[in-house]
Amino acid sequence: MASSSSSNSANYDVPWVENYRPSKVVDIVGNEDAVSRLQVIARDGNMPNLILSGPPGTGKTTSILALAHELLGPNYREAVLELNASDDRGIDVVRNKIKMFAQKKVTLPPGRHKVVILDEADSMTSGAHQALRRTMEIYSNSTRFTLACNTSSKIIEPIQSRCAIVRFSRLSDQEILGRLMVVVQAEKVCLLAKIYLASYNSLPTVKRHFRIAFLKTPNENSGPNGPLHNNPKANMQWVEA
Ligand SMILES: Nc1ncnc2c1ncn2[C@@H]1O[C@H](COP(=O)(O)OP(=O)(O)OP(=O)(O)O)[C@@H](O)[C@H]1O
Ligand SMILES: [Mg+2]
Repeated sequence: MASSSSSNSANYDVPWVENYRPSKVVDIVGNEDAVSRLQVIARDGNMPNLILSGPPGTGKTTSILALAHELLGPNYREAVLELNASDDRGIDVVRNKIKMFAQKKVTLPPGRHKVVILDEADSMTSGAHQALRRTMEIYSNSTRFTLACNTSSKIIEPIQSRCAIVRFSRLSDQEILGRLMVVVQAEKVCLLAKIYLASYNSLPTVKRHFRIAFLKTPNENSGPNGPLHNNPKANMQWVEA
């Protein structure tokens, strides 16, 4: 995973969305109930099988990765199997790759288990779900499963009943803006962006202004027909930035 949310230096090789992906559960914004449940697991260990469900971009994948890192620390590499939507996760992969990983002996501290991460698990076939259910049963002593999905009802019932379901909902505009502020401060983004973020409480407005300011060239913005032409305040900030 990329550097933590506490990272405050610009890293031009990594997109911001990755560079500022929280690496600790405590740094995940919003969804207090879900996050505090995960914090308890990160602290106490004995992770149950988990389904994290909710809309896109709310922190499900981030939470699973952060939790696995906190639980397993230096053992992450050998004790975690990550499979996301770009990997083949059909029935054969469950029968072979996941089963082989579940059978692998890894020495871990008490209360820690190997972890299989199945991202976007609602796009797996029902055959793969059935095979997964059996693997979950057989290897539950040594291996725990975390599934992320948008809709938990698309996971077969026998898997749902073997998991604790943690629900995420959309972040509020305030929560997203607060997080964006952290990023622009750390990246020393131009004055224009900071002023817009600080002075508008509406996320759609901020997005619109970002589009105007950053996706168009200065000429397009300031020409006679440019979107900033009739907006002296924005023009001034554009010059200052
Ligand atoms: N709650 C959050 N707190 C802080 N950053 C977040 C949060 N949610 C999302 N992000 C940021 O957005 C990026 C995407 O989040 P993430 O991949 O966790 O979303 P997701 O819920 O798994 O979405 P999807 O359903 O599309 O897979 C992260 O890299 C992170 O930078
Ligand atoms: Mg995800």
